[in-house]
Amino acid sequence: MRAHEAGALHGNDAAPTWLPYPADVNALLDGLWSRTTVRGADGALEVGGVSVHRIAEEVGTAVLVVDELDFRARAARFRDAFAAAFEPYRGAHVFYAGKAFLCTEVARWVDQEGLGMDVCTGGELAVALRAGFPADRIAMHGNSKSDAEIRRGLEAGIARLVVDSLEEIERVSQIAEQLGVVAPVMLRVTTGVEAHTHEFIATAHEDQKFGISLPTGDALEAVRRVLERPATLDLVGLHSHIGSQIFDVSGFEIAARRVLRLVAEVRERFGHTIDSLDLGGGFGVMYNTQHTPSSPEALAQGIAQIVAMECRDLGLEVPHLAFEPGRAIAGPSTQTLYTVGTIKDVHLGGPHHRVYVSVDGGMSDNVRTALYDADYSALLAGRVSDAEPTVARVVGKHCESGDIVVKDEYLPADLRRGDLISVPVTGAYCYSLSSNYNHVPRPAVVAVRDGEIRTLLRRETEDDLMALDVG
Ligand code: LLP
Repeated sequence: MRAHEAGALHGNDAAPTWLPYPADVNALLDGLWSRTTVRGADGALEVGGVSVHRIAEEVGTAVLVVDELDFRARAARFRDAFAAAFEPYRGAHVFYAGKAFLCTEVARWVDQEGLGMDVCTGGELAVALRAGFPADRIAMHGNSKSDAEIRRGLEAGIARLVVDSLEEIERVSQIAEQLGVVAPVMLRVTTGVEAHTHEFIATAHEDQKFGISLPTGDALEAVRRVLERPATLDLVGLHSHIGSQIFDVSGFEIAARRVLRLVAEVRERFGHTIDSLDLGGGFGVMYNTQHTPSSPEALAQGIAQIVAMECRDLGLEVPHLAFEPGRAIAGPSTQTLYTVGTIKDVHLGGPHHRVYVSVDGGMSDNVRTALYDADYSALLAGRVSDAEPTVARVVGKHCESGDIVVKDEYLPADLRRGDLISVPVTGAYCYSLSSNYNHVPRPAVVAVRDGEIRTLLRRETEDDLMALDVG
């Protein structure tokens, strides 16, 4: 049945056209739920062998539930897919982008799975180091690194410092000199590619803050300046990241081509061979039926083909490659469990209405809907229902009408206060963008595996909220 037909049938056409009327409102949509999520015998969702009721009783809600095996499997799959695709050449490494979600335990999983770690601030570096993550597999980004951050990275012995501006080159060189080390630097170049994603998460077009412009010639100048300082700087390679939540490999194709042309130009002008290339992250995930992400294998093979062809045309050896997925590893591994509070049936004029379902969280634990107009989905998690599906909007408890978690979803019409609902694919950029707006404590984050619940980040308390209030 089509959404608008469903709307007519239910006297309610508030559903967007992309939202399919569910054949079964209790069903777990393929591709949306972490690998161990199932409906248990009592109808409640189970993840990692643990019922959502047990999680809610032991940890409370709102809570982010990380399916450990799912996270690890995605990490391993990206690692293997890119290693296999570039195996005929000089190989490829995958760095997990910690900005998507980071805590010490997740850093240990990433280490155990053999990936590198991409950090972009001193804080992220501190978490990785605290976890005992090997510094020689850490890449450090940042468009405005402080001297202290650069010093800390170099002292720790990180694998590469990704330099983001012409200005930074001299600063890194001076700090390396003071420390008596040679800094391994990559240069982040902006290729002028327009990635088809939300403007705030596209990063390689010209009018934005990241990187060193390739089209203007600044990138070539940056290479020259780094090569001029061999006593303090070692040019590890070039870096390009075009944006996030991208499905279309063509963006990577254009970026790779432009960066490889720079590699050829550097060889020609300076007689120097750049032998490592990092094409960043940005691989999109499925948040709802509108998204159809490619498999890591297809992405890796596609990019390998493009890079190999371009290198052949330019007479270059295929460099060593690196990639930095964050969202595609962390996002689908996690779901947020909420308890339903107030429910309001809001009339929209004529026969149309929308059911507003309030939960015990909101824009403080998932700001992506408000910030990027993201579309999430939701499912009744604590039980099954045979009631009619009705168009609902899941909203938070904050004092703001834009406090929306899921804009549009079909939920059963008998949904009531106290029900548990779950929002899938919240593992990336939800907790990491969280706040305690309105003095709402941040939720707990737990890992579930083999019937066990392990707290990764405990729930914030009122004392935590007061901790900074020295007045
Ligand atoms: N590498 C670099 C240099 C990056 O800037 C990013 C993301 C990544 C890798 C990882 O991208 P991913 O694979 O996760 O797409 N807060 C936004 C996303 C910001 C992404 C920032 N950089 C959101 O919630 O959509």
